[in-house]
Amino acid sequence: MAFATRQFVRAASSDAATAAAKKLLIKHVTIIGGGLMGAGIAQVAAASGHTVVLVDQSDEILKKSTKGIEESLKRVTKKKFADKPEAGAEFIKKTLKNLTTSTDAASVVHSTDLVIEAIVENLEVKNELFKTLDKFAPEHTIFASNTSSLQITKMANATTRQDRFGGLHFFNPVPMMKLVEVIKTPMTSQKTFESLVDFSKAVGKSPVSCKDTPGFIVNRLLVPYMMEAVRLFERGDASKEDIDVAMKLGAGYPMGPFELLDYVGLDTSKYIIDGWHSLEPNNPLFAPSPLLNKLVEEKKLGKKTGEGFYKYK
Ligand code: NAI
Repeated sequence: MAFATRQFVRAASSDAATAAAKKLLIKHVTIIGGGLMGAGIAQVAAASGHTVVLVDQSDEILKKSTKGIEESLKRVTKKKFADKPEAGAEFIKKTLKNLTTSTDAASVVHSTDLVIEAIVENLEVKNELFKTLDKFAPEHTIFASNTSSLQITKMANATTRQDRFGGLHFFNPVPMMKLVEVIKTPMTSQKTFESLVDFSKAVGKSPVSCKDTPGFIVNRLLVPYMMEAVRLFERGDASKEDIDVAMKLGAGYPMGPFELLDYVGLDTSKYIIDGWHSLEPNNPLFAPSPLLNKLVEEKKLGKKTGEGFYKYK
């Protein structure tokens, strides 16, 4: 009997250990920030059957985000269900049913499995948000940031859940771009990392993994390239139109660097380069650009404001 009990206890505790090590199946997602990226992430998460709450600062912004998601879903559906318009309409209906919005993050994270932050690229603002949400989210909830340039480790340290914190770096436009960089800090647990990888696959993306290093993989290569293009233009060596044509026709890139800068958002690009410059002031690849700074000061932020290097009105 004593033997059987010992066996039972051993089996039960090994079951518990297995359960504890099991990856978290993410079903309910809270996305903070309904801008360019947050709305896209909300769309792909809802379209793949997750229940999603999208949070932003005002109902007006959220209305705009929802409208953008509806329009994007129509475009996706037109292609995906070209011969089956009824199935397409059903897909849109189902996706939108999975999506709700809120202006109060703290009140909606109580039952969420994953919080994805996609707000302004500012470490203090992000840390403040994570610190608050840490108090309201359940113990099991994983926190992830979509930051392009800030250190995930610094955000994790603003919370008490460093092991349940990682990076989920999506690409713009989210519904089209297949890549997600899953960022593991030295404190991210294997269980959290694997749960984030599984979530990325569940929303139809191809995850790659990278340590918490400036720019991760894609931006560490791409941003210095775009800044070199701006410097070439600033020196008067070539026009921005010719640089764009050259990189499209000569390097086979789908967009030129100025088109890409406008697409990404000049404010986001400026934050990235300023952040890296402060980390490595002597690195010429990270030098700030007076022209980029001027355009941001004039609120010419790219496509989203109707003007950046080019005009879109
Ligand atoms: P965005 O400016 O289009 O959207 C940010 C949204 O966050 C705005 O709607 C704003 O109202 C909201 N917001 C700001 N503070 C908030 C708060 N405390 N609570 C709730 N909502 C708040 O910016 P975007 O481009 O979507 O970027 C968001 C994040 O995604 C940034 O960290 C950026 O580095 C990252 N990212 C951007 C990419 C891009 O191509 N634009 C690509 C990959 C990542």
